[in-house]
Formats: sequence, structure tokens, C-alpha cells
Amino acid sequence: MTRIYSILSFFLCSGIAAAFLFGIAGNGPSAQRAADVNKGMEIAQQICSTCHIVGKDAKGVVKADVPSFTSIADKPGQTTEFIVGRLVLPYRPMPDLKLTRLEMADVAAYIMSLREKQ
Ligand code: HEC
Repeated sequence: MTRIYSILSFFLCSGIAAAFLFGIAGNGPSAQRAADVNKGMEIAQQICSTCHIVGKDAKGVVKADVPSFTSIADKPGQTTEFIVGRLVLPYRPMPDLKLTRLEMADVAAYIMSLREKQ
């Protein structure tokens, strides 16, 4: 019985600790500043343009099967959160680019700034 309690309290405590840590990590960068579209554009040009077409007017593909940023932005129901999610957990062959949360938010904001559909 006591064993169950200690296991339960362990999970409870680590849950609270995790929530606390994530709370700090989550609030930290966004508390400092909001996502920056221009910074996101720089990241896109430097890091993402090897594979993706990142500009507003450019159409077509750099490599077959890599969606352009305008087409990603214009996907039905596209959201900043979905784009950040794809950067946190990229599907193959998209690599894990090891961006910080703030860089992800910047580049996602840049991609969404290309959206033409409402
Ligand atoms: C090495 C090549 C490569 C690089 C560099 C790269 N990507 Fe990708 N990315 C891909 C490929 C390939 C896919 C399509 C994966 C698939 O089929 O789902 C993709 C998919 C995506 C998607 C999901 C699109 C969707 O509609 O599901 C997003 C968002 C994305 N990339 C953003 C980025 C951003 C932002 C960067 C730069 C920080 C970046 N990518 C850099 C290759 C790359």
C-alpha cells in the first residue's frame, strides 16, 4: 500500500515539476518578444531554401516532392501551430533542423505571412 502511494506521489511530483518546467520554457521566449516574421524570413532563406522554395512569388520546386512555402501556407486550415509541430517532429525526409522554439515560431510566422487564402 505504501509502495503504491510512493509510486503515485512520484508521478504526481514529476508531473507537477514537468508542468512547472514546461511552463517556464513555454513562457520564456514568448514573454520576451512575439514571433518575428523578418527573422523567420532570414531563417527560411538560410536554412530552408536548400530544399524548399521559400519566397512569396517563386513557384515550382527546388527538389521534387518538397512543397513550396506558399503551398504550405495555403493548405486548407493551415495554422502556425501545425507548422511548428512539423518542425518539432519532422517527417522523413524532412530533417530535424534543431531550431529553438523561438526560431520555429519566427519561421512559422513567416510561412503564414505568405498565406493568400483566408
Ligand atoms: C533537406 C531538405 C529540407 C530542408 C532543409 C527543410 N525541409 Fe521542410 N520538408 C522537406 C520535405 C522533403 C518535406 C515533405 C515531407 C513530407 O512528404 O511530408 C518537408 C515538409 C515541410 C513541412 C510540412 C509541409 C506539409 O504540408 O506537411 C514544413 C512546415 C516544412 N517542411 C518546413 C520547413 C522549414 C521551416 C524549414 C527550414 C527551417 C525546412 N522545412 C527545411 C525537406 C526539407
